[in-house]
Amino acid sequence: MSTSNHKNNKPIGFFDSGVGGLSVYARFKKVLPCEDTLYFGDLANMPYGNKTQDELIGFARKILDFYKSKDVKAVVIACNTSSAQAYDAVKDDYDFKIYPIIQSCAKVIASMNYNRIGVFATEATVKSGVYTKELKKYNGGVLVKEIPCPNWVPIVENSKYNDNFAIADVKLQVEKMMKFSPEKVILGCTHYPYLLSVIKKFAPEDLFIDPAEIFVDYIKSDLEKNNLLNLIGGSESFYVSANPESFQEHSKIFYNVENLPEVVFPQAVML
Ligand code: DGL
Repeated sequence: MSTSNHKNNKPIGFFDSGVGGLSVYARFKKVLPCEDTLYFGDLANMPYGNKTQDELIGFARKILDFYKSKDVKAVVIACNTSSAQAYDAVKDDYDFKIYPIIQSCAKVIASMNYNRIGVFATEATVKSGVYTKELKKYNGGVLVKEIPCPNWVPIVENSKYNDNFAIADVKLQVEKMMKFSPEKVILGCTHYPYLLSVIKKFAPEDLFIDPAEIFVDYIKSDLEKNNLLNLIGGSESFYVSANPESFQEHSKIFYNVENLPEVVFPQAVML
């Protein structure tokens, strides 16, 4: 049982390019409702999926510096693309814990001993090869097939699930993946689990892994192990780098953000 100390009552920061990371955040709030949380959506720079590594490292540093100023005990990189392209470059530069979604989940998924794992992700995540690298680190014999799905984020953001184009694109990517005969397929982008209603038309639903569940369990047990659980908090604040109204509107897909988020270091400063 954790004892209360100064450090464990500090807030935890989350970030993503936009609202997608709220899928992880929503799960986290359900499992750990007594944590004080901050969420930053980098709307000035979204989408992250088509950005260069240098750009993504720059965005991550700016956000981590912001969270340093907020005196957080940990930061959750709730974005696969940022975990893939920026985490390695920034991980040793801060004195709080940083939890990247890919590296945290790959460890757990690799321990399940599957031989053939598929990954759907953004172009930047696939280009990094980090899912393959991390899975192989813990299970050398695993075969991994990564497929980029650049159209899926806009389909979810705009709730176009029933458009002919959306259904045809999902069918195309799922059929491509099924040729690999995967035992499991990781939905390696925060938005993709929201496409399951379409994906399951073309492959069995239990083939797919939503990393958010594994990720939150991983963070919880690590906070516990390090005596960092907060037992008395529960507050939340939201921040964006642009378009607070759009953030609040789109957040509804993932989580109910009641108040307009505060705009901090807008676009001109970020770039
Ligand atoms: N949230 C990002 C991820 O998990 C995808 C959205 C974007 O491209 O900005 O990779």
